[in-house]
Amino acid sequence: MDDLDDDLTVASCTRCPDLVESRSRIVSGVGPAEADLLFVGEAPGANEDEQGEPFVGRSGDVLDDGLRDVGLARADVRITNCVRCRPPDNRDPTSEELANCRGYLDAEIAAVDPEVIVTLGKVPGEHLLDRSLAVTQEAGTVEEIAIDGTNYRVLVCVHPAATLYDRSQRDTFASALQKAAEFADDGGQSRLGDY
Ligand code: URA
Repeated sequence: MDDLDDDLTVASCTRCPDLVESRSRIVSGVGPAEADLLFVGEAPGANEDEQGEPFVGRSGDVLDDGLRDVGLARADVRITNCVRCRPPDNRDPTSEELANCRGYLDAEIAAVDPEVIVTLGKVPGEHLLDRSLAVTQEAGTVEEIAIDGTNYRVLVCVHPAATLYDRSQRDTFASALQKAAEFADDGGQSRLGDY
């Protein structure tokens, strides 16, 4: 795509007028370009906008802890968002904003070609599965999607922040991450599992 300086980094984009106003910077995905696991969140929040990296606030701490608990490090996985600019007042991205950013996400998915895409929360789950989702009930389930003729697995997971305001979601989150870890290829990546 025009605004991608490689298949992974969005260098410039002015498609969403509200987001051009509200963002400090474009927050592209981070992590290995050949990661087995691609985590997809909704959109950057204040911390991510400030630091230029997805999931670096409290949700990021929960994600990092959850990964560690299943023997993975943040550096082992790729983490991105459906929308790469912080929406004003942390509102949900609109369907138009999701659509405007979709090409970047699809290009990143194609470039990384992960074993499994893990959707963090309702917005990315519904966006990629293209249907409504009961995210808590469906967490841990895997479904195939096709993007430009290539099939990918999507593993539904609750948003890490959900575990902060509802303790009962902790097990749901942990089980989904455990399932994600089972898709990770031991050979190609550093694992913390056996220390
Ligand atoms: N929540 C998200 O969905 N994405 C982030 O990058 C941070 C919090």
